[in-house]
Amino acid sequence: MNYTFQLKNIEEYKEAYQKSVTDPEVFWETIAREFRWMKPWDKGLNWRFEGEGAPVIEWFKGGKLNITENCLDRHLQTIPDQPALIWEPNNPDEHYRILTYRQLHQKVIAFANVLKNNGVKKGERVCIYMGMIPESPIAMLACARIGAIHSVIFGGFSAQSIADRIKDGNAKFVITCDGSFRAKKTIPLKSIVDDALVQCPSVERVIVLTRTRTPVSMIKGRDVWWEDELKKVETMGNPDCPAEEMDAEDPLFILYTSGSTGNPKGVVHTTAGYMIYTAYTFLNVFNYQPEEVFFCTADIGWITGHSYIVYGPLAVGATTLMFEGVPTYPDAGRFWEIIEKHKVNIFYTSPTAIRSLMAQGESFVENKDLSSLRVLGSVGEPINEEAWHLYYKNIGKSRCPIVDTWWQTENGGIMISTIATVTEHKPAFATLPLPGIQPAIMDPEGREITTPEAKGNLCIKFPWPGMLRTTWGDHQRCYDTYFSAYPGTYFTGDGCLRDANGYYRITGRVDDVLNVSGHRLGTAEIENVINKHTNVVESAVVGFPHPIKGQGIYAYIITEKEILQEDASLAIADIHETISRIIGPIAKPDKIQFVKDLPKTRSGKIMRRILRKIAEGEMNNIGDTSTLLNPEIVENIKKGKMN
Ligand code: WTA
Repeated sequence: MNYTFQLKNIEEYKEAYQKSVTDPEVFWETIAREFRWMKPWDKGLNWRFEGEGAPVIEWFKGGKLNITENCLDRHLQTIPDQPALIWEPNNPDEHYRILTYRQLHQKVIAFANVLKNNGVKKGERVCIYMGMIPESPIAMLACARIGAIHSVIFGGFSAQSIADRIKDGNAKFVITCDGSFRAKKTIPLKSIVDDALVQCPSVERVIVLTRTRTPVSMIKGRDVWWEDELKKVETMGNPDCPAEEMDAEDPLFILYTSGSTGNPKGVVHTTAGYMIYTAYTFLNVFNYQPEEVFFCTADIGWITGHSYIVYGPLAVGATTLMFEGVPTYPDAGRFWEIIEKHKVNIFYTSPTAIRSLMAQGESFVENKDLSSLRVLGSVGEPINEEAWHLYYKNIGKSRCPIVDTWWQTENGGIMISTIATVTEHKPAFATLPLPGIQPAIMDPEGREITTPEAKGNLCIKFPWPGMLRTTWGDHQRCYDTYFSAYPGTYFTGDGCLRDANGYYRITGRVDDVLNVSGHRLGTAEIENVINKHTNVVESAVVGFPHPIKGQGIYAYIITEKEILQEDASLAIADIHETISRIIGPIAKPDKIQFVKDLPKTRSGKIMRRILRKIAEGEMNNIGDTSTLLNPEIVENIKKGKMN
C-alpha cells in the first residue's frame, strides 16, 4: 500500500497545490491512475458552473470502474488478513468484532447476491436505516457492488423523515434491523420503518437484520430476514458476485441534508470522483500509515461516516474502527477506553463530543493509556480555542497534531484542513486549502477579496472530484442553492476569515442553517413543523451560542389562544412531541418563547437579526428598529426572554 500522492512535507504540499491550480485535470488524473479501472476515461474533467443546465461537473467521464473493487478486491492481493473493520459494540461486555479484508469482501459479496436475489437492479435506490453495526457498511458496499444507489438515513430520524426520503428517491427497497442499542435503550428500528411504510406503497422489499431481538411485525411477501436470505444464497453455491461495471459519473449514493429553505435535499455523489477524493484526503489529512487504526466517531448516517468510516479508509486499505454506542455509556471514559483497547492511532471526532466529555472532568481520561494516539481530528462545527487546547493537552498529551477539518455533505470530503505532520496547526483555524481546492472570500457586493487578510462569505471557484453533481430529482434546486448567489462559483453558506498567512478560520453559517452538536438543521424546516402544531399561528427559529452543542435552537411562537403560565411547560412538551414525530428528537428546540407577535418589516418579512440578538442575550445591541412595522413588540419579546 504505497501511494505516490501521499504528501511528506510542506514543500510537497506547496508543489502539489501549485500543480492542482495550474493544471487541475492532469493533477487529478495522475492520482486517479493509482486506482483500479475496468476501462480508462475519455476526458479528465468537463465543467460549467453557469448557464443552462448548470452545474455540469463530470470527472473521468467514460471511465469504468467499481468502487468495491478498489475498496476490497484490490487489497486481497496485498493485505487480505489485515483488519479492514474493527467494530466495538454499545455494551462493553459484548465481544468486539474484527473483519479482515478477506472476510469483509466475502460478506459484501454474499449480501450483494442477497440484493440481486431480491430483485435489486443497477441504478435502483435502496434505503438503509440500521444503526452502527458492521452490516451497515456491508449493505452500503453490497449496493455499490451491483450498482444500486444507497440512501442511508440517520438512526435519529423519525418515521416521517424516512417516508419523505423513501418517496423523494422513489426507493423500492429498505434494509433495516429489528432494533439498535443506544446506551441503556433499545430503539425499535423496524417498527419505525413500518410506520414510515404506511405512506410508501412503492416499497417492495424490506430486509431485516437481527440485532436486538426486539419483537417485530413481518409482512408476508414484503419483509424478509437478512439471515434467511443469506442462507438461500449460500445454498445456491455461487459465492461470487462480479462487480458491476459503473461509469465514473454513475451515482454512488444519495444523502439528504438540510438547507435554508424547504425540505432536506438529496445530495448526489458519483462513483470515481468521490472515491478518489475521499481516498486522497483520508490518506493525506490524517497522514495515515500502514496498519494504523483509525477511529472516526461520526454516525454512518452522516457524510463523515460515509467518507471516513467507509469509503476513504477502505479505498486505501486502512483499518477503520466503528463504534455502536454513545460516548457517555457506561461512563464518560468510553472513547478513551476504546482507544486504549484497540490501540487507536488516529482519532476523529466533533467539538461537541470534546466539550461534553471535558465537562465531565479529567478523571475519565487520566487512568487510560492513550499513548497509541498520533493524530487527532475535529469535524462538523467550529472548534473554539478552549476546546482545542483541552483536546490537545488532555487527549493528545501535547504531542499529537490536531487537524481541524472543514467540509460539507456537498463536498464529499475534507476541503480546508491542517495536514498532519505536513502543515502547521493553529487553534480554531482549519488553516490551508487542500490541493485541488480554490477558495474565494466574497465581499457584500459579491466581489472576491484578494488581499491576504479577508473576511466574508466562502466560495469555491473551481470543481474538485468529490463535489456534489446534483440534488436528486431537482437539478434546478442544486443550481439555485449553490451556484446562483455568486455566479461562476460554488457558495458554501459559511462565513470565514483569512489571516495574513493565508490560514482560514470558518466562523459558521451565514444562511438560515443551524449547526447543533454538528448536526445540520434548517430553521425553515423546524418552523414548518412547529406551524403544523395545533394552536400555532406562526413561528421563527434562530440559533444561539450553546456551551456544549455549539449552537442551540431558540423558537419564538405565536399562538392563537394565549398559553397560560401554568400550561406553558405542557404546551412546550407537546410541541417537542410534534417535532420528534415529524423530524426527530435532534430538532427539538432548547428554548421556546410564546410571543404575541414577531418583529416584521413593512413588507411582512420577519426580522431574524433582532430575534437572533435577543436569543444571544445581546439586549442592548439590537440595532435600528425604526423600520419595523411593529417596533413596540421588541421590548415585549425582550421581557419574556427564556434563560
Ligand atoms: C460546519 C459535515 C467549522 C460548516 C462534514 C459546514 C465546520 C457544515 C467544520 C457542514 C469545521 C463542518 N469548522 N465549521 N471544521 N466542519 N463545519 O454537511 O458550517 O453535516 O457548512 O458536513 O458544518 O455540515 P455537514
